[in-house]
Amino acid sequence: MQTDPPPPPPKPAQTPATHAPPARHQPVGVEIAGLTKSFGPQTVLTGITLSIRPGEIFTIMGPSGSGKSVLLRQIAGLDLPTAGTIRINGLDPARPATRDHFALALVFQAGALFNSLTVFDNLALHPLEHRLDNRAGIRARVLRALKILSLENAARKYPSELSGGMKKRVAIARALVMEPQILLYDEPTSELDPVMAATITEIIATLRQEYQVTSIVVSHDRDLALTISDRVAILMRGELRALETPGGLRALTDPEITDFLNPKIDLAQPRYQKMEAL
Ligand SMILES: Nc1ncnc2c1ncn2[C@@H]1O[C@H](COP(=O)(O)OP(=O)(O)O)[C@@H](O)[C@H]1O
Ligand SMILES: [Mg+2]
Repeated sequence: MQTDPPPPPPKPAQTPATHAPPARHQPVGVEIAGLTKSFGPQTVLTGITLSIRPGEIFTIMGPSGSGKSVLLRQIAGLDLPTAGTIRINGLDPARPATRDHFALALVFQAGALFNSLTVFDNLALHPLEHRLDNRAGIRARVLRALKILSLENAARKYPSELSGGMKKRVAIARALVMEPQILLYDEPTSELDPVMAATITEIIATLRQEYQVTSIVVSHDRDLALTISDRVAILMRGELRALETPGGLRALTDPEITDFLNPKIDLAQPRYQKMEAL
């Protein structure tokens, strides 16, 4: 006589996810008022006043040496203004206690990776040093950041074994382990081929969309600025020359700005000869 098959054994209790997504934080806004920065006799930023809204992608463009990186370092609180103020959600970014209120991360232009550490250890170093979490929590953060940036196979590699595009992604992943509410990028697409630059641009837009992270991007990549930015600031010789949406930027007629955005190559009157005449 046939008997019914025995009932299946009870399923083991579901294990809790080890890679739970980071808690959604409130994005943060930045208010800059009358910011001036001098190094000795050289004034590098002059009277910059602007607001960056919570959750926006705000791009800062300008020629080399116009003060973009200096401005970003000021927003990150790494350097003090000579005059004027910067407030992030009303707090001074240069005060250490401010960091208890929101997480800020900076993606450095050259990546600033430690060559003697693997990618995994580069990502884990800062959270370990600052005890942002216990070891298991930090490991989960690092694995999550590597996954988001498709770097799982690079975890055991050293920076010297990575391509330029991978290094940029590692630098972004390293910022992500901080679970930032405000993310600052310094030239994230420089020195990359056009396809990798587009990839990084897409990553910046995706991170903003998924985590509502306020994103400040220093770049002179026109494609990046005009495709993913909510607003673009143009800095020239340390002054804020324009603050526009991408559409507004395309409509500007100031010759210095249009020449910066769309430089025409003119072999009849080459720039280097004009420069020599200066
Ligand atoms: N720590 C510093 N000491 C002295 N001068 C600096 C310092 N940092 C930047 N500068 C000067 O400030 C100007 C703007 O630099 P920077 O913000 O790096 O330009 P960029 O727009 O290319 O990022 C440059 O003339 C640079 O030499
Ligand atoms: Mg710079």
